[in-house]
Amino acid sequence: MAASPAGAAASSAAALVVYGVLVLAVAAPFASAWNYDGHAIICNLARPLLTAAAAAKVDSLLNSEFPHNFSTLCTWGDEFQYLPQYSWSPPLHFINTPDKACTYDYTRDCRGMFGQANMCASGAINNYTTQLITPSDTHNKTEAMLFLANIMGDIHQPLRVGFAGDEGGDTIRVYWLNTMNGSSTSLFEVWDSVIIHETEERYFNKSTPTFNETLTDILGNMSLAIYANLTTADVALWGPCPGGAKSCPDLYATESIELACKWAYADVTPSQILLDDYYYSRLTIIETRLKQAAVRIATTFNRIFDPNYIEVPAPPTPTPVTPPAPAVGPIPPVAPVPGPTLPPVSPVMPVPVPPVAPIPPVPVAPAAPTIP
Ligand SMILES: *[C@@H]1O[C@H](CO)[C@@H](O)[C@H](O)[C@H]1NC(C)=O
Ligand SMILES: *[C@@H]1O[C@H](CO)[C@@H](O)[C@H](O)[C@H]1NC(C)=O
Ligand SMILES: *[C@@H]1O[C@H](CO)[C@@H](O)[C@H](O)[C@H]1NC(C)=O
Ligand SMILES: *[C@@H]1O[C@H](CO)[C@@H](O)[C@H](O)[C@H]1NC(C)=O
Ligand SMILES: *[C@@H]1O[C@H](CO)[C@@H](O)[C@H](O)[C@H]1NC(C)=O
Ligand SMILES: *[C@@H]1O[C@H](CO)[C@@H](O)[C@H](O)[C@H]1NC(C)=O
Ligand SMILES: *[C@@H]1O[C@H](CO)[C@@H](O)[C@H](O)[C@H]1NC(C)=O
Ligand SMILES: *[C@@H]1O[C@H](CO)[C@@H](O)[C@H](O)[C@H]1NC(C)=O
Repeated sequence: MAASPAGAAASSAAALVVYGVLVLAVAAPFASAWNYDGHAIICNLARPLLTAAAAAKVDSLLNSEFPHNFSTLCTWGDEFQYLPQYSWSPPLHFINTPDKACTYDYTRDCRGMFGQANMCASGAINNYTTQLITPSDTHNKTEAMLFLANIMGDIHQPLRVGFAGDEGGDTIRVYWLNTMNGSSTSLFEVWDSVIIHETEERYFNKSTPTFNETLTDILGNMSLAIYANLTTADVALWGPCPGGAKSCPDLYATESIELACKWAYADVTPSQILLDDYYYSRLTIIETRLKQAAVRIATTFNRIFDPNYIEVPAPPTPTPVTPPAPAVGPIPPVAPVPGPTLPPVSPVMPVPVPPVAPIPPVPVAPAAPTIP
């Protein structure tokens, strides 16, 4: 069985009660992919990483439906998958892998509901990359770009490359204690939206009743807080593809299933109540995946749309520190290597002033847990 968008939509209904009307309005139609908020954050982070030439090309492909609002670019593929003319597209938002194998293999796993080859997230990324780099390709290039931005995000959500038997965690019911006050949800939904919503709630004023702000402001502030932690070294490390390819979905899918096994499925049994230790330890993984998705969308678009794009060089391999003789004392701190700074956040970002990064230091990662 394939992961089911309908199942994901139904399971997110529990969360909506708590998050209120504002979220209901935007979340309901898009419930099946890194929910609206995850995709919007990814695009907010990606935009300032585009070169001027790539940004101009992206803007020229956006028609009047998407006037200079880059966040909406990343969510389009979800809005449209429920329209009749795109009813073939839901399988492009995930990948099913064999139960407990914790591996991904393109030929084995990238299949649609009836076994059709290439009908999965990595196949779609290859498909839309090819459409965009092939001038003679007659597919709608605006749609190719919109699908690519959305699915590049999806493939970074670890449980979107999950086990076939539990539909990427969608059939594993769990209880979320924190803001949801013990409401039932699915493990899939915890990773797709609940942890992000919890963070908005705890650190970005989401539920302050007297606070008259829009969801965009919350997402803008959260995007800025995460962007403040993105470094040039991250871009250099995550951006390039092996062999100079324009996009490399097999790499992203392999990372996701490995993270799914190590962090999403790990230590979770059906009907379990998930508490703060799960939230804090997994939040770092989710933040990293949001940042990686953003860097990869931006660098992929730069490679596709900017003929003069030069890959950010990989940072030098650090020289191993020779342990000092015991009598010498502690190792002195290594001076940070100055590097080029990332471009400032673009003016299309909804909120211009970065907040003080409010997410508290993440506790030391627990020892690698085992898969149930
Ligand atoms: C490739 O893109 C076209 C146009 O959107 C679509 O009809 C086709 O199903 C896509 N195939 C894959 C594997 O993504
Ligand atoms: C391409 O797709 C976009 C998004 O669906 C649509 O708005 C636009 O009209 C399409 N362009 C053409 C030439 O069909
Ligand atoms: C959580 O649920 C309990 C039991 O249903 C209830 O007493 C409590 O008021 C709820 N707390 C919040 C913050 O909604
Ligand atoms: C929360 O709202 C207060 C104003 O009530 C504001 O000063 C603060 O910056 C907001 N926090 C975040 C993280 O945006
Ligand atoms: C909240 O914002 C809306 C839209 O800007 C405005 O119409 C409304 O009066 C505001 N409410 C309060 C209590 O400030
Ligand atoms: C971006 O688009 C969203 C969804 O359509 C909208 O709510 C928001 O106001 C837009 N933001 C800007 C800065 O235009
Ligand atoms: C976003 O951050 C700014 C600057 O810290 C703050 O003034 C504003 O209240 C925040 N917005 C929300 C919705 O918390
Ligand atoms: C940014 O990184 C610092 C240091 O690692 C960490 O304390 C903080 O929580 C991070 N903030 C966000 C928003 O990721």
